[in-house]
Amino acid sequence: MGVIERYRDRLPVSAETPVVSLGEGSTPLLQARRLSRRLGIELWLKWEAANPTGSYKDRGMTLAVSKALEDGRRALVCASTGNTAASAAAYGARAGLPVVVLQPLGAVAAGKLAQTRALGARVLEVRGSFDAALDAARELATRGTHELLNSLNPHRIDAQRTAVFEIVEELGSVDALYIPYGGGGNATAYALGLRELGLTGAVRLVAAQAADRPGTAATAIRIAAPAHATRVGASGAEIATVDDDQILAAWRALAREEGLFCEPASAAGLAALMAERSPSPTVVCTITGHGLKDPQYADRHAPAATIVEADADAIAEAAG
Ligand code: F0G
Repeated sequence: MGVIERYRDRLPVSAETPVVSLGEGSTPLLQARRLSRRLGIELWLKWEAANPTGSYKDRGMTLAVSKALEDGRRALVCASTGNTAASAAAYGARAGLPVVVLQPLGAVAAGKLAQTRALGARVLEVRGSFDAALDAARELATRGTHELLNSLNPHRIDAQRTAVFEIVEELGSVDALYIPYGGGGNATAYALGLRELGLTGAVRLVAAQAADRPGTAATAIRIAAPAHATRVGASGAEIATVDDDQILAAWRALAREEGLFCEPASAAGLAALMAERSPSPTVVCTITGHGLKDPQYADRHAPAATIVEADADAIAEAAG
């Protein structure tokens, strides 16, 4: 069951809306036993990499593309650091609509680029930053030919609220939610979800941004000027700042202590949690994207493989 089907009564759809779905949402909420012990809290991980294209973007994309189809749009466009692009490409293919993606040249992780190309989107690498690409996408969308699929599209935000619904339905009560903060669309969505459940103020929302926004190794959140900065600022969310070393430490902990291989940006929320002196008792960190998206990061930060002869003695020795 996809997000639209599960939360139909809380989303702007009717019986006539053509639903474009890949079975997104309803992702695992995993207890982090070892990290809980280490941090002295009850920590849960919302594993959004289990979405069909490997990131949380699918939650919003199902609604944005369904509504574009309902509204008779003929083409779709987005600017992206990679995940929005892959998700737009997938849902666009399923809807039978052409997709143009604008990506900052040389700054998109290999897995995302491969995925987006394979899914048939037209990939344009823009000479400039994500911010410049987003400006161009917005301008193209104003011409009326292409529907904008960035989180400035209100349907994206609307459907991304459903992650909060799932967490609260499953846990009953929670003290704090931690998410990465790039453009701020997801922080905006989480804040709206909490407000709708009457939990604003009762549940802390911590949005974790990279200290070096324009240059972080967490390319998914390499965004100098967040499009939703004003809304995030007014939402009651706490903004935390983490550097690349803290992100790396959290990324390693997720992989080695909890078995979750995520992309670096996804570890920003946990990095912020790990930096706190007295964290809340029950916490959920949302892990937004899969590690397979960014194989170069793993190559740089994980031990290399060792070459051995196909011989049991040699292998026993090499295995340690
Ligand atoms: N985590 C991942 C894996 C992302 O890809 C992004 C954003 C974020 C977190 C931050 O979310 O922008 O709503 O604050 N990726 C966008 C993209 C920018 O183009 O894929 P945000």
